[in-house]
Amino acid sequence: MRKTVCYLQGVAPAATSAPEQGLASWGETRVVGKSIPRVDGYERVTGTAVYTLDMNLPGMLHTAIIRCPHAHARVKRVDTSAAEKMPGVRAILHGETPVAKIGWYAGPNGPTSWLFDPHCRYEGEEVAAVAAETPEQAFDAARSVVVEYEPLPFVVDMQQAQNAGAPAIHEGGNQPGKPEVYERGKIDAGFAEADAVLEQTYTTSTQIHTPMEVHCSVAQWEGAHLTVWDSTQGVFDMQQELARSFQMPVSSVRVINAYMGGGFGSKLDLGKYTVMAALLGRMTALPVKIALSREDTFRCVGNRPANILTLKAGAKKDGTLTAFSMQILGTTGAYPGGASSAYLVMDLYRCPNVRTEETAVYINAGKERAMRAPGFPQCAWALEQMMDALAEKLGMDPVELRLKNVPDVSQVRSGTPYTSSGLSRCLSEGAKAFGWKENFAKSKGEGAIRRGVGVAAGMWGWEGEANATAILKLYPDGSANLNIGCSDIGTGTKTVLAMVVSEELGVPVDRVQIEHADTGTTQYSPLSGGSQTVVANTPAVRAAAIAVKSDLLALAAEELKQPVEKLALREGAIEIEGPAGRRVPLQELKSLGECRVLVGVGRRQPHPKNKVALPFVTHFAEVEVNTRTGEVRVLRMLAAHDSGRVMNRLTYDNQVFGGITMGIGLATTEARILDAGQTGKMVNRNWHDYKLPTALDVPADMTSLPIELADIEANNTGAKGLGEPVTIPTAAAVANAVRHATGLRITQTPINPLQLVQRLAERRKEG
Ligand code: MOS
Repeated sequence: MRKTVCYLQGVAPAATSAPEQGLASWGETRVVGKSIPRVDGYERVTGTAVYTLDMNLPGMLHTAIIRCPHAHARVKRVDTSAAEKMPGVRAILHGETPVAKIGWYAGPNGPTSWLFDPHCRYEGEEVAAVAAETPEQAFDAARSVVVEYEPLPFVVDMQQAQNAGAPAIHEGGNQPGKPEVYERGKIDAGFAEADAVLEQTYTTSTQIHTPMEVHCSVAQWEGAHLTVWDSTQGVFDMQQELARSFQMPVSSVRVINAYMGGGFGSKLDLGKYTVMAALLGRMTALPVKIALSREDTFRCVGNRPANILTLKAGAKKDGTLTAFSMQILGTTGAYPGGASSAYLVMDLYRCPNVRTEETAVYINAGKERAMRAPGFPQCAWALEQMMDALAEKLGMDPVELRLKNVPDVSQVRSGTPYTSSGLSRCLSEGAKAFGWKENFAKSKGEGAIRRGVGVAAGMWGWEGEANATAILKLYPDGSANLNIGCSDIGTGTKTVLAMVVSEELGVPVDRVQIEHADTGTTQYSPLSGGSQTVVANTPAVRAAAIAVKSDLLALAAEELKQPVEKLALREGAIEIEGPAGRRVPLQELKSLGECRVLVGVGRRQPHPKNKVALPFVTHFAEVEVNTRTGEVRVLRMLAAHDSGRVMNRLTYDNQVFGGITMGIGLATTEARILDAGQTGKMVNRNWHDYKLPTALDVPADMTSLPIELADIEANNTGAKGLGEPVTIPTAAAVANAVRHATGLRITQTPINPLQLVQRLAERRKEG
């Protein structure tokens, strides 16, 4: 597909050979789909789970990173002589350290920077790193490293960065590449046949991932072999990237990630800190830990980039869309990356004539990184407000307008049909459950407090790598061990996988031991990202369980002298059907005991040919606006999702509510604030000043409404992915509700009280 998401560039994934074919999807399920608490919940909440940050190896060193204090500067000199003499200091790395000459931030023509680049392009760029025996010694020594900078003029505003004469962030200027253009149909003809044409510019703020667990690595060398514990969304990708960075065989690198406290995309890529830990470990022959500070996670490990989106849309009187034209300006930060996505404009609705143009620009700020549906919430912010405005203009109900334009096929994939699409049902059943019609028709409150409702739809546009292997072992006592390489980034992946084992083998979920996310001991699995973790892994686990079951039934048939067709595995026992039917618990099956361990291997089938499996969504919001103070309270949200089969209703709802929370953040409070005038620095780099929604900022009244379609083509479990669609339309739904409540169209995130009272005051003056 397009460049929408850059999960991994230039690394060939390990292929699973001979995938299982033709495994039919389940019909009714006994375990899958139920609400089952996380299998590792106890250790996570009691603090006994060992996260990377909790690791403490014998002799382990701690690290402090020295970061550039200027938005744009050149490092003239690094003097480490005083720091080297400080107590406990073992090693220091900086740009002049020969082993640290490692290329970084890939562009089309290779690396665009270095691990320690003397040209610092944003405040927070890495300049040096000190390893010492205690964290305090490392921080003390870091303060004694003398760095001489030549501050340079900076630019942190993306429109200003485009101006001739703007400070050049890279030698070639501030444009990472040519604008990306997509076209289909005849755009001018499309607008010519429209009865209504609207055009509007929308802007979104930069949103920060800031996962609960900070980015952290522990590196340890044994001879030429490197082991890294890392909070990462993909141990196998990191293994390959580390091997490349150090020019070592992949087999000399092992990456382990036992527990993880979130990533949202900010832990998809190999981080500089991980390579620094490995370098310092090699210099000192000791294990080395690097944990980023909370501030660092705000400045240095990615963000959802700000976008300026201009959308022009045309529709006929009956609501038929005739044309979309969109220009997006986005910033990748100081280095190349993905700045935007126009995907939703291309594919969410049926529209024959579409042109999109996406331009990226560098600014002196931390680089973007894929963040939960990269580009999509920004695009939805524009498209879904435009759909609302079109409906108003045409005098149509906004739900009806969307329903009228639901496509049957993926238009950007030249008409490839979907394995299933629940978009219409998300819209209509969501509307019904929300009470859309009644609420949309209702008067909007009285006096200063106004109420309104809004709707917005979305979809996710990326099918991941279908390439995972699972090994399942069944023990004679009926318990099992599952071995699979994916990270459980906090979403409950392990629980869902255990439920798949339980579904097929009847093993209770708490009797499934799970080995995961360790390149040394587990099987290949793709990155945990792109809403694909369950999609990629559950089919492999199911195939492994079926392999075990088939071997087990063959053993039982021989031992019990019964035809295999008469046998079934149910809840830890072999059942013999027929008049002489009986039940043989697995513990009594001698042949299983003699086996000691029954092993099954499962490989994920490829994606279906000539079809595409993608999830769809519609969110409904109800808000209350205080027109005196400009405060917006989201009172109620309903999320209708078609993500195929619901695997675990509890973790499913967790995703939905978490995604809504993130979307309400984008709509109402979240924004990276850069001091454009004086310093270029991020001024709200902590959880106090950067306003993430808390429990008090999201409605208690949130409803998750799964639109569960039986998708027998997507894969053998029928799951289509949920982690990203949950946050795509939320902000736009809130904005549409604010419009309904106040009559004001707020085109800029976050919708903040100051902006709203100003607009209300302007309107009073005009009116
Ligand atoms: Mo996601 S942005 O693939 O973690």
